[in-house]
Amino acid sequence: MPKSVYPHEPRRALSGPKGLAITNLSYMTDTLTIDTPTTMPVAHAKALYVETYGCQMNKADSELIVGLLLRDGYRLTDQVEQADVILVNTCAIREKAEQRVLGRMSELNRLKSINPNLILGLCGCMSQHLGEKIIDKAPYIDLLAGPDSYRRLPAMLQALDTNQEPALDLSWDRVEHYLDIDPIREAGVNGWVTIMRGCDKMCSFCIVPFVRGRERSTPHQEILRQIERLGEEGYKEVTLLGQTVNKYQDGKVDFATLLQRAAEIEGIERIRFTSPHPSHFPDHLIDIMADSPKICPHTHLPLQSGSTTMLERMKRDYTAKTYLDVVYRLRKKIPHIALTTDIIVGFCGETEEEYQATYEMMQTVQFDAAFMFKYSPRSGTAAYKRLEDNVPEEDKGRRLTAIIDLQKSISSDRNQAYVGRTVDVLVEGQSKRDEAKLFGKTDAFKTVVFPALPEIQSHMIVQIGITSVTPFTLFGDVV
Ligand code: SAH
Ligand code: F3S
Repeated sequence: MPKSVYPHEPRRALSGPKGLAITNLSYMTDTLTIDTPTTMPVAHAKALYVETYGCQMNKADSELIVGLLLRDGYRLTDQVEQADVILVNTCAIREKAEQRVLGRMSELNRLKSINPNLILGLCGCMSQHLGEKIIDKAPYIDLLAGPDSYRRLPAMLQALDTNQEPALDLSWDRVEHYLDIDPIREAGVNGWVTIMRGCDKMCSFCIVPFVRGRERSTPHQEILRQIERLGEEGYKEVTLLGQTVNKYQDGKVDFATLLQRAAEIEGIERIRFTSPHPSHFPDHLIDIMADSPKICPHTHLPLQSGSTTMLERMKRDYTAKTYLDVVYRLRKKIPHIALTTDIIVGFCGETEEEYQATYEMMQTVQFDAAFMFKYSPRSGTAAYKRLEDNVPEEDKGRRLTAIIDLQKSISSDRNQAYVGRTVDVLVEGQSKRDEAKLFGKTDAFKTVVFPALPEIQSHMIVQIGITSVTPFTLFGDVV
């Protein structure tokens, strides 16, 4: 199953009616005055289907791709069999993710027997990582476009009308922000806004800097314009996106200032961001987070490892101690803050002691939730070139299972503390498991499920008294 299909499957449960998730097509026309180096809009009305894998950044990029191609005259379909063009937007972070997508591509290739003119394109991080050689393995791929090449998609697709050769564009662009392209966003309460592209951190395990290029911050005026528009269109929440989102800097406007300005925008009730880097949490940022009720008390703070020697090998530029200092400062100013994290086990040379340090750090911090991974070597990275992937698979598996179990019990305890409390929930829609229930999130990013009432609709903020919990969900009743 694809991780996410555009129009996106809502993340956990249905939000509103099924079908095309386009919220407002009127602004397609607003952008036609902009001089694009590609093609003029034509009424060819070919049907486009976009499928998305990976992080929120990819989701936001898919929204951009759809915006760009609808502007060029394509129409969107959610029926893959009816598509003239299928674009699969991909993730290269772990090998498993890549293998899944390759399996999916070969499955999609079967549709060519029904529609021989079908164009099958691979976009995003995997195209950039695997490069042209993927076409040797999967010659049915007609188009390869990296994260900096989306602007040229209309021209590439047009070239495929007359040319039998695959269309490839894996060029880098240090200044590409896609400023003039308005994304066609997923319907719902939350709008993603990409505020930075690329990453300069070069953590030794990570492929991102090699597939998404150099770090650059989008001009703040453009970000604020997008947020204002989201507010006007009825979105209640924005999530600011970047690989090191808190490192944002546009002239004198740093991340804290950007958050402060975003919080002044009408209509938007909640502001989230992901992923910040633990090395970029100055006190004035934490103060602004604490002072603005709109900035959600939740921070995703990727730890990776609780061992300082391991963090050094990972080139994470913080120590276990400085990480804990950030946690301490965040919790001191924002006592109710929820903290979530990413952890890798089995990275090159991980000793039992180093792994134990991660386990103990998780016990110390008590994260609300964690994404946990086994290390997956990625060609091109420093670790791939200079370190040995020498932790036996068995140990990787054992360590992963142990931290997953630990986190489950911590999440359960942390959620248990909500029983008897009343929380504000931004309603997203109908629960997938039970049509008689609605679901939404607290400001601390906890999913809450509660019985539907006729007067309660998505986009409303309602008070829910929590009666029971699991490690992943809170349940309750409208107060
Ligand atoms: N920008 C984020 C991370 C983006 S990648 C940060 O600051 O950390 C998302 C997560 O995938 C990472 O946090 C890491 O935990 C995991 N990851 C990245 N490369 C990986 C690899 N080679 N093997 C296993 N997990 C990896
Ligand atoms: Fe990857 Fe490290 Fe950047 S994890 S995305 S290189 S901050």
